Amino acid sequence: MKFFIDTANLEQIKEAQDLGVLDGVTTNPSLMAKEGIKGQENILKHYVDICNIVTGDVSAEVISTDFDGMVKEGEALAKLHKQIVVKIPMIKDGVKAIKYFSSKGIRTNCTLVFSAGQALLAAKAGATYVSPFIGRLDDVSTDGLRLIEDIRLIYDNYAYETEILAASVRHPRHSINCAQMGADVVTCPLNAITALLKHPLTDSGLAQFLADAKK
Ligand code: E4P
Repeated sequence: MKFFIDTANLEQIKEAQDLGVLDGVTTNPSLMAKEGIKGQENILKHYVDICNIVTGDVSAEVISTDFDGMVKEGEALAKLHKQIVVKIPMIKDGVKAIKYFSSKGIRTNCTLVFSAGQALLAAKAGATYVSPFIGRLDDVSTDGLRLIEDIRLIYDNYAYETEILAASVRHPRHSINCAQMGADVVTCPLNAITALLKHPLTDSGLAQFLADAKK
């Protein structure tokens, strides 16, 4: 399973990259705003800065909601760097745009996916990645992980190549469950990645080994 970091914070991206287990980055307009990145020129430069830190795919989201606007924005984003994946919302014109980009060899990440039907359409349109938001489903008392399971089954039934990118992942248990269910990628904040390496028995065991080594 691949690990992406879900942030636009360059320091956190560097820290995850230095860990040696990072496969890519996802961003969205809210994450860009959180870092104070404003203005088209600065936004595009920030995506390039991210691509220069990591070796894997970097999702950059369009903000247009009509087909022509998404195509124009997506083509400009894709030209920025070979690692850029154009992130497109799961709306009617978004599906058309994914199909268009797929025919042009431009890679896409279909975002804001909350149902198996939406994931099926994204795969049929040729999305490179589909992003089911499991944490936000959990927030409204719906089983987000069940959606990962459903999409895995459907994609395997028809050998769709679209990768399942589990998004809105909030804690280490989410990541472990996604791995058990066969998600291709998990994207989460840095603290949810580093939380995976922690265990109190590791800490106490190491403290004991170090104490014994002095004897
Ligand atoms: C990633 O592609 C999504 O934009 C992100 O995971 C959403 O996470 P959130 O629900 O924690 O905002």
